[in-house]
Amino acid sequence: MSALPSLPSPPADIAFEAIESHRLPDLLRRMPKAELHIHIEGSLEPELIFSLAERNGVKLAWPSVQALRAAYAFTDLQSFLDIYYAGASVLLHEDDFFDMAMAYFERAAADGVVRAEVFFDPQTHTERGVPVGVVIEGLSRARRAAFDRFGLSSELILCFLRHLSEDAALRTLEDALPWRQHFIGVGLDSSERGHPPEKFARVFARAGELGLRRVAHAGEEGPAAYIRSALDLLKVERIDHGVRCTEDPSLVAELAARGVPLTVCPLSNVKLRVFDDLSGHNLPELMAAGLWVTLNSDDPAYFGGYLATNFVDTFAALPALGARQAWQLAANSLEASFASPPQRALWRADLDAAFRGAV
Ligand code: ADE
Ligand code: ZN
Repeated sequence: MSALPSLPSPPADIAFEAIESHRLPDLLRRMPKAELHIHIEGSLEPELIFSLAERNGVKLAWPSVQALRAAYAFTDLQSFLDIYYAGASVLLHEDDFFDMAMAYFERAAADGVVRAEVFFDPQTHTERGVPVGVVIEGLSRARRAAFDRFGLSSELILCFLRHLSEDAALRTLEDALPWRQHFIGVGLDSSERGHPPEKFARVFARAGELGLRRVAHAGEEGPAAYIRSALDLLKVERIDHGVRCTEDPSLVAELAARGVPLTVCPLSNVKLRVFDDLSGHNLPELMAAGLWVTLNSDDPAYFGGYLATNFVDTFAALPALGARQAWQLAANSLEASFASPPQRALWRADLDAAFRGAV
């Protein structure tokens, strides 16, 4: 596994202690940051689900936007996924994927996101007869438009659904190869328990041969052992979630030593009952252990907020987090992105300028 260098450290001239706490929420919203864990299908707001359902003649199981929103009372990951897949059933045409992604990019840009590495689940659509090319063309058109309109840099990461077979994942990857230049990597998502990373060793090896970057969800609901096998057997460069690593102190030490980024999603973790509330989240523990933590929104339309809300609400709930940690999380996200080193350096300079200007 390629290791990142040690955690980014701030320039000595930024006076974090001088930043008044009432200015922090605004800074959290404005500071340049990367979002590395966002499922584009999880950005479908109920209003857009209903308008696409009407446009496409799709019948939904809920009579209204309010009834759908009221169903967002999840007890675990699976209870969420059942509704998430039902919501995605309204996506049929290239324009639907474009509209969904543009709505996300507009909100992300308003939240200070300068770089988004966006997950998409082709199998959620191909299983309903939507060709993978329709999905990728729609999302790619939105990426280009987001760069033109908002200056937002983005890439796509193709995720395999782990509740399906590895053969299905292999077919999905091969079917997507005519659009190889439109995505930079592969990921692994959906129901974690009972579907360990080792089930997907061959398809991740194939992705590696193709020069694709590799990431995987692990240690969200599943055990710490899944984090280890994602690293060792799938050769991933980042772990999505990973919060359960603290159940294995030797794994925490290894993640810190290897500089493995974790894409942590606090509002998601509370909504899916990984933690009871934000004040009990283990983010301060992860950061204190020297881990390469980033904050992300996961499925913002379902979990109560986009990236800036994740930052603001989490910082409000956890007194250990202040301006220094805000800088660290933003710098971690920029450096853990798959953008080029010169581009990352430009964003880092903008980040430092935002903090100098806040003093
Ligand atoms: N697909 C969308 N969101 C997910 C999550 N939080 N975990 C696993 N699979 C997902
Ligand atoms: Zn996720």
